[in-house]
Amino acid sequence: MPTAMIAELASHVGETVTLRGWLYNSRSSGKLAFLIVRDGSGMCQCVLEKTDENAELFQQARRLGQESSIELDGVVRPDERAAGGFEIQVSGVRVVQAVEGYPITPKPHGVEFLFQHRHLWLRSQRQWAIMRIRSTLVDAIRQFFNTRGFVLIDTPIFSPSAGEGAQTLFEADYYGDTVYLAQTGQLYVEAACMAHGKVYCFGPTFRAEKSKTRRHLTEFWMVEPEIAYADLDNVIALAEEFVREIALRVLRRHAAELTLLGRDTSALERLSEPFHRMTYSEAAELLRGDRVREQFERDLEEGRARVKELRARIQECESEAKGTGVKKWKVEKLAREAVEAREALAEVEESLRNIPKHMELAANFEWGGDLGGSDETIIARLHDRPVFVTHYPRDCKAFYMKRNASDPRVVNAFDLLAPQGYGEIIGGSQREDDLDALSERIEQERIPRAALEWYLDLRRYGSVPHGGFGLGVERTLAWLCGLRHVRETIPFARMMGRIYP
Ligand code: 4AD
Ligand code: MG
Repeated sequence: MPTAMIAELASHVGETVTLRGWLYNSRSSGKLAFLIVRDGSGMCQCVLEKTDENAELFQQARRLGQESSIELDGVVRPDERAAGGFEIQVSGVRVVQAVEGYPITPKPHGVEFLFQHRHLWLRSQRQWAIMRIRSTLVDAIRQFFNTRGFVLIDTPIFSPSAGEGAQTLFEADYYGDTVYLAQTGQLYVEAACMAHGKVYCFGPTFRAEKSKTRRHLTEFWMVEPEIAYADLDNVIALAEEFVREIALRVLRRHAAELTLLGRDTSALERLSEPFHRMTYSEAAELLRGDRVREQFERDLEEGRARVKELRARIQECESEAKGTGVKKWKVEKLAREAVEAREALAEVEESLRNIPKHMELAANFEWGGDLGGSDETIIARLHDRPVFVTHYPRDCKAFYMKRNASDPRVVNAFDLLAPQGYGEIIGGSQREDDLDALSERIEQERIPRAALEWYLDLRRYGSVPHGGFGLGVERTLAWLCGLRHVRETIPFARMMGRIYP
């Protein structure tokens, strides 16, 4: 009997196959047991009918606990009503391990509980969908560069100096010397860029973020291309083509998973149109202006309405569950809904509390400061496609960025903000290729020069205009999947206050 994966049942209709998987859920009546089985590739309803011969097996199967591992034999039947479109008529069941007391039940669980059980939570449908999309996203990233003549350069994780801000360094003891976990591979891909012309690195990076936000992890994955003989416009053009291609690939490949996650994919369809562009100075104007204020006012109004709606929903769920004769599954479903509504309520209330502060920050935004998280959010709220913000003030950006020739107050840098409030997913720039200008910046920033002598060599021997960017995988995935928080976009999130499991 051939073993089959659930995702491939279409090519086995009418055949008897063996499925190997785990019991996701089950219900039974007197004569029929419906076993919802998942095997990693998908889910399938398997129907076992009680007969004179299999009475014992039937009893065992209907009592199997959630996540029991099982092998089933049966005939594949098309069934339009079934999830996945097929059903198995079971003729044999072998229990690999019978499980009792699986911690993640159909009952409600809070976010904290789920993260403590992340090793098991990964099996749940939403988490399963997110990880599959992540896998495709990573593959799309690699393919984009590999099919365009970029050379993959693996950069070191132990670093002798900071690559980005010194405030977010993780220290490690390196035979008595202090070194740092890499915040970026950029400085090293710049070296390799002068050897190969077009390169990229792709790996984990580390930042000791001291705040808990929905956008910050302490360990995240970043892809960083770097190209020679390129100015800011060339780098921006590359970033636009790149984001469009990887996002559309995810969209084409995972419509089903995105729907399962509740993502409105029409917003992603718009990516085939040109992205928006504005300078930092224009962004500053926008922040101080009426459009932003009015958007905040709308947010306040909508937030208040949503609070009312959620409170009513919670009450409704609770009183309905208390009613007489309500079935157990219904009570559990209502409890789950109430927990979800409570979590949503807490979030809405928090953002309502924050709006006045964010309004003030925007209204009083002064030229010269970096855009804060709330500034990025509101700018991204006002756009239906990603928006490039360019030409930031020199003093709020990294030492390696190229000073602008016509306005020395700004650098040839950009951030790409994902729409619908997601905010920065890419940071990039043209690099300072002039030895004296770069030395001056290193001094101004009081960066220990000795550890960067090698980097200055790149400006001594065949320096050319060049640039690149870094895209964070988790923020990009949060945006594509429509998730509020980056913590579910990586298998085992590392954040301030979270290191288990
Ligand atoms: O803007 P950043 O700091 O840029 C760099 O590191 C440059 N060296 C990149 C380059 O030009 N080669 O970070 C780039 C991206 C951000 O836009 C964001 O997507 C992600 O990395 N990122 C984070 N993601 C999750 N958690 C954090 N703490 C992140 N910090 C940055
Ligand atoms: Mg940045």
